[in-house]
Amino acid sequence: MKVTVYNCRDFDEKALFLRYGKELGIELVLCADAPTLENIQLARGSECVDIITSKITRELMQAFHENGVQYLTTRTIGYDHIDMEAAREFGIKVGNAPYGPNGVADYTVMLILMSIRKMKRILERTNIQDYSLKGIQGKELKDLTVGVIGTGRIGRTVIRNLSGFGCKILAYDLYEQEEVKQYAEYTVLEKLLKEADVITLHTPLTDENFHLINEKSIAQMKDGVVIINTARGALIDSEALICAIESGKIGAAGLDVVENEFGLYYYDHKSDILDNRELAILRGFPNVTVSHHMAFYTDNCVETVVRDSLMSCKLFLEGKENPWEVS
Ligand code: NAI
Repeated sequence: MKVTVYNCRDFDEKALFLRYGKELGIELVLCADAPTLENIQLARGSECVDIITSKITRELMQAFHENGVQYLTTRTIGYDHIDMEAAREFGIKVGNAPYGPNGVADYTVMLILMSIRKMKRILERTNIQDYSLKGIQGKELKDLTVGVIGTGRIGRTVIRNLSGFGCKILAYDLYEQEEVKQYAEYTVLEKLLKEADVITLHTPLTDENFHLINEKSIAQMKDGVVIINTARGALIDSEALICAIESGKIGAAGLDVVENEFGLYYYDHKSDILDNRELAILRGFPNVTVSHHMAFYTDNCVETVVRDSLMSCKLFLEGKENPWEVS
């Protein structure tokens, strides 16, 4: 039983892979880089490949297939970075590794608080010993209405977390969850957009909700609305977001994800010229907090994804029922 692990990080994942590989009787090939046509030969002889959020194109899928790979596991919850159509075409099964929702939910609440308390400006000031108050007056959550779009695992944990702050909570989802109703009022999207002071996104990225937050939906929102995105970058039309921040329609944003982040995140690009203009503009605004898709990143999460991705390979190869298989 052999698994090739791509994007294996030395500083946090490697020791866990070695430990769980040994415990589960799995031989491992560890590679620090994302899979490419140049390093695909590392997958030869492995029945399974273990990846993170790097794009898996049809070309790569075909190359995996030609190298004998039967199962692809991603150490992430979302799997929109994988060409699932190609996976079906080449007979490669795909699995994900969901971890607990608390890390992302905590982080979301942190971004909400940072945004309404103007924390980016405050930190920038204290760093240069500017201890003035003008321009950093914040708002209290208890005075605000928070709209939560998507009430799945993460969205409903955010709602539970927020319930302690005394804010009004509006929720929107295609399917309603009983648990949510004790803390929030389900409503139609239009009402949420119109009445929320803070809007936080927790849906997967699908064809239907691509650019869910766009010029038209932003126009329906309150002036000065705060937008939080810890879900997927392409849920928001970046251009429309930038225009609305420039005009003051959007008062602040907390973005753990941005459009076209593939290939950028988890690398040190300090000395590089990057071609993501939207990210450069968003990073520059004093009222926009950007982080590099790391809301998930806790010790609990890292151990869970390493362990469960290998467990899922083992179950697949043993032909047993595999709760992590998504196709
Ligand atoms: P989930 O599958 O448990 O919940 C998603 C919810 O969204 C479901 O209730 C579904 O009915 C709803 N939904 C789907 N399409 C919708 C639409 N068009 N309108 C309204 N509701 C819709 O997913 P989970 O685990 O809560 O993850 C939510 C998001 O967070 C995903 O996009 C995931 O990729 C992202 N994520 C981000 C992480 C980060 O580090 N920033 C880490 C983990 C997940």
